Amino acid sequence: MNASTGMTKPFLATLAGNAVSPPPIWLMRQAGRYLPEYKALRAQSKNFLDFCFRPELAIEATLQPIRRFGLDAAILFSDILTVPWALGQKVEFLEGEGPHLQALKSSADIDRLEIGHVVERLKPVYETVSGVAASLPGQTALIGFAGAPWTVAAYMVEGHGSRDFIVAKSFGMARPELFDRLLDIVTTATIEHLSAQISAGAETVQLFDSWAGVLAEREFRRWVIAPTLRIAAALRTRHPSIPLIGFPRGAGGLIADYARETGVGAVGLDTQVPLGWALGALPATLPVQGNLDPVALVTGGKALREGIGTILGHAKGRPLIFNLGHGVPQTTPPDHVGELVRLVRGA
Ligand code: CP3
Repeated sequence: MNASTGMTKPFLATLAGNAVSPPPIWLMRQAGRYLPEYKALRAQSKNFLDFCFRPELAIEATLQPIRRFGLDAAILFSDILTVPWALGQKVEFLEGEGPHLQALKSSADIDRLEIGHVVERLKPVYETVSGVAASLPGQTALIGFAGAPWTVAAYMVEGHGSRDFIVAKSFGMARPELFDRLLDIVTTATIEHLSAQISAGAETVQLFDSWAGVLAEREFRRWVIAPTLRIAAALRTRHPSIPLIGFPRGAGGLIADYARETGVGAVGLDTQVPLGWALGALPATLPVQGNLDPVALVTGGKALREGIGTILGHAKGRPLIFNLGHGVPQTTPPDHVGELVRLVRGA
């Protein structure tokens, strides 16, 4: 409850299964390089992981989009690749090139991962969470997050970003037991990491399975659904009142099985999922999040208005958290985000 208004935060009310009108809104990658104030702040640290691990900088990066746009939720400023780093893998972000990891290739590489130090090494992240929790406006919720095990393991094996993650997929197909061992380590680390974020003040947590869409059904069930089920079950036991938002980007026709079998509390839909179809395939009480095309946000004007109208039309009477179908692109004019928030709120 919010002490000043006596109202539950709209974002949390929606996650609890209520159809709130207008729907709450936040955006994946709402902090970042499309904001000039982020670029200025980012200049204070050469190294991106170091930036993530300096609570005073990460708190400020988290709050910047809240101050500018008054969104309904803040998302912790951090990265999914902090977990491989905390497991002892070498992780670097090269300017303009994205992440580089020392790729895991053998059973010995996986044996060297250090599962016992994750929470201790990620302490600055939890300090950021509690710092943000202490400075948010009363109606704004705080989201923690982690990468889902498949997506994180895919970077750990591939060593860098990829369109198809053929190296990681093929590793998992050729050496299923070894890959399961890796997924198991990442799953355990993720449970500890999310649990520590919740203890520090996160009111919900989102699992980003950004590369779920490169998998066929069989691997999707083993590498996406099974580890997510384990995380959802563990968090439910430890933090029964905290919902988990699953975002299996590219899940397509497997989205309903994902929602039902993992037991996530809400499901994020990517840009390609037809919202009307997904709402028909998912239980009417399950909150959904999404799924405006990020390019409609970059474009603005009529494309933006029509994109919003379609989503609001489909989701009438259903618990909807308005979001994009993926992250805010770097080329987004910040004013378009302001316009999006105003339009969704009917102002
Ligand atoms: O505002 C927010 O959403 C919170 C912060 C956040 C970041 N990364 C900051 C970031 C979140 C939630 C993430 C998640 C993340 N990181 C994902 C899942 C979501 C998705 O986009 O699919 C993935 C796959 C990563 C891994 C990652 N981190 C990549 C591939 C890159 C390079 C791409 C790029 O945009 O440069 C990053 C770096 C990164 N993470 C940046 C930011 C703001 C840019 C780095 C910088 O500022 O120098």
